[in-house]
Amino acid sequence: MNKAHKYQLVNTKLTQLLDPNVAWIANAANFCSLMFEHFPFFWIGFYYKTDENYLQLGPFQGPTACTKIAKGKGVCGHVWQKGETLIVPDVHQFPGHIACNENSKSEIVLPIFHNKNFWGVLDVDSQQLDNFSHKDLMGLREALDIFEEKAL
Ligand code: SME
Repeated sequence: MNKAHKYQLVNTKLTQLLDPNVAWIANAANFCSLMFEHFPFFWIGFYYKTDENYLQLGPFQGPTACTKIAKGKGVCGHVWQKGETLIVPDVHQFPGHIACNENSKSEIVLPIFHNKNFWGVLDVDSQQLDNFSHKDLMGLREALDIFEEKAL
């Protein structure tokens, strides 16, 4: 099955899974679990804005991770500053990349908005170099649109 089709199937499951009647954290936890079960990601998780300066670790799947990221720092802080998705094919080539785990080789980080305001990011890591493409961007963007609509 190609990646685009797989995202389509997983995102259909996501729509059924997310429950608008529970706190966002419960839905975010299930979001990560569903994605982690279906894709060979090394790590997937949410970082959410706690104030004007920091992101804090939210629900995730994978090894333990950094708990706080300052605005403008690392890939996540950079995405916050720019408000745009970043695909990093080789994390060692990204100046200021925050290495929570040395086995992570490539990364995609997407911003999440709520009522047009920046809310946080979804960070996905891989143990393979150059693992993320436009297909991941499209599939994960659609998943986050569902998350924003049903969980925030
Ligand atoms: N690498 C990220 C930090 C988060 S971990 O990968 C889970 C960054 O540079 O922002």
